[in-house]
Amino acid sequence: MNKSTLEEDNYMKQTKILLIDAAEISSATFSNETVTALENAADVIRQGGLVVFPTETVYGLGADGTSADAARKIYAAKNRPSDNPLIIHIEKPEDAELYAKTCELYYKFARAFMPGPLTVILPKKDTVPFSVTGGLDSVALRCPSHPVARRLIGLAGVPIAAPSANLSGKPSPTCAEHVIEDMMGRVDMIIDGGESDIGLESTIIKIDGKTVTLLRPGGITYDALSCVTDGVEIASAVTEQLAKDERPLSPGMKYRHYAPDAPVVLLDGKEEDVIEFLKAESQRSDCLILCYTEETGLLPSERIIDIGRMNDAQAQAHKLFSALRDADKLSPSIIYAHLPQKDGIGLALYNRMIRAAAHTVKYIPSGMKGNNLI
Ligand code: TXA
Ligand code: MG
Repeated sequence: MNKSTLEEDNYMKQTKILLIDAAEISSATFSNETVTALENAADVIRQGGLVVFPTETVYGLGADGTSADAARKIYAAKNRPSDNPLIIHIEKPEDAELYAKTCELYYKFARAFMPGPLTVILPKKDTVPFSVTGGLDSVALRCPSHPVARRLIGLAGVPIAAPSANLSGKPSPTCAEHVIEDMMGRVDMIIDGGESDIGLESTIIKIDGKTVTLLRPGGITYDALSCVTDGVEIASAVTEQLAKDERPLSPGMKYRHYAPDAPVVLLDGKEEDVIEFLKAESQRSDCLILCYTEETGLLPSERIIDIGRMNDAQAQAHKLFSALRDADKLSPSIIYAHLPQKDGIGLALYNRMIRAAAHTVKYIPSGMKGNNLI
């Protein structure tokens, strides 16, 4: 993307911020004033503009999913490589018929998890431009459950292509403040719908004939997917590093993600050994620790960010991206965090954290006391 295109598309924008009342969101009953504001946002989408909107997973950077030009604007606003395809957000599961070649398995998953945090990849139809799918002949479809997202898609009357509303490489935004940090001046409108419920992006599966492959774990767990059909495969890149010459099943797998400026090191080992190591290491003034709530009394308060209770992976998922952004602002030289368990929503946490850490995991044996790692 050359500079003049970026300037023309983004840098000159006056970004409007639209605040939606939390009580309206939770009751999903919108006042006339809010509906008028959402109609304006839908107009912006129809006219080829960019609107950031809340979803139950993370905030999305939305534009008309049937327009090649709108997709080009999304890539420019995010500084995103144009071979990394976008998810198309639809109002109802059956709207998939307009954009993809559906199958029985799609409807089984749709009945179980839509609307909700599941994205399904299917062969695309010609209604979706190749610029939206990064040149692929498949398309990713998601029907979000967030009332604002659903109402916006309905009012727009077009599907909304939306990646997470962060600058490429930064953690996905889970509240309007994160979006404002990254997108002010780059988009036409930001709809502030409070904190995202889940805090990690949707689960992505690819359906290819009878084969179902989990490409990105999220709020819908592997066990829940397996209740719909047997033999769901997990793409190796969910937990492992891609080999140098390996072609990823999803283009997004090959890009650096979620990474703060400081190196992140994930610690594995018995809790008592890890905490001893962290106590010693926290004497360093340049380290930051993403710790469990139970550990907050054991470590210096100026070196820690509380990531949630030890056995509450859901709470940790909710806080992770915020914690990574906060960690970055403190400019540490190193960030330590616990290696998550890979069960339930823990698999999604593991997937995001292992990438934030560029796969750096250190095992802490009994008796190890810090200052030994780098
Ligand atoms: O929760 C979510 O999914 C959020 C909200 C806004 O809906 N969206 C989101 O989009 O996380 P994004 O663009 O940040 O991540 C989508 C991922 C990328 O890694 C992309 O490579 C992959 O989905 N993807 C999209 N279309 C694909 C396709 N046709 N084949 C394989 N991977 C695809
Ligand atoms: Mg993203």
